[in-house]
Amino acid sequence: MDLKALIRDIPDFPKPGILFRDITTLLRDRDGLRYTIDFLAQKCIDLDFQPDYVVGMESRGFIFGAPLAYKLEAGFVPVRKKGKLPAAVHQVEYELEYGTDMLEMHQDALHVGSRVLIVDDLIATGGTASATAQLLEKIGCELVGFGFIIELEDLQGRKNLPDVPIISLVQY
Ligand code: PRP
Ligand code: ADE
Repeated sequence: MDLKALIRDIPDFPKPGILFRDITTLLRDRDGLRYTIDFLAQKCIDLDFQPDYVVGMESRGFIFGAPLAYKLEAGFVPVRKKGKLPAAVHQVEYELEYGTDMLEMHQDALHVGSRVLIVDDLIATGGTASATAQLLEKIGCELVGFGFIIELEDLQGRKNLPDVPIISLVQY
């Protein structure tokens, strides 16, 4: 299936000069949504990730991370922006293609040695994914890989990630 045909390009959002890759048009397509989750899951199976947990980042990482966790028979753990999680958190500051922010994860969500797959809709600079990997490192989890729907190759985000397999379904 041609996933690129289902992803909409919006110039100058949220700031001038950013070409925003809009996945809402993919999500609303029933065949596209099913294909995307099934395709990502199959790649994770082929790479033998066997995660105990899928970690997804707010907010678009939740959309793909939770159904992927279901398919891989793993748990789902949310990484959220500052101040949203109710229990004790680990925190890490990170940079975006268009700003900086803070990510948080519950301290008791993962354990030493948990096998974890990090999932998000898109990798741009890799700041979000790299910060999430740092949260896992604080706990001593085993990061098995990364899964993204979209990779913006010009920004070379994968250079900022730890040396584990990185899946992306669509590259720009
Ligand atoms: C977007 C996207 C990734 C991140 C990628 O999220 O969903 O999480 O940026 O950029 P990076 O590789 O440069 O870190 P955003 O922070 O805009 O939040 P949202 O999902 O809530 O829209
Ligand atoms: N997150 C960071 N950069 C992005 C882009 N160009 N399109 C959609 N989401 C993004």
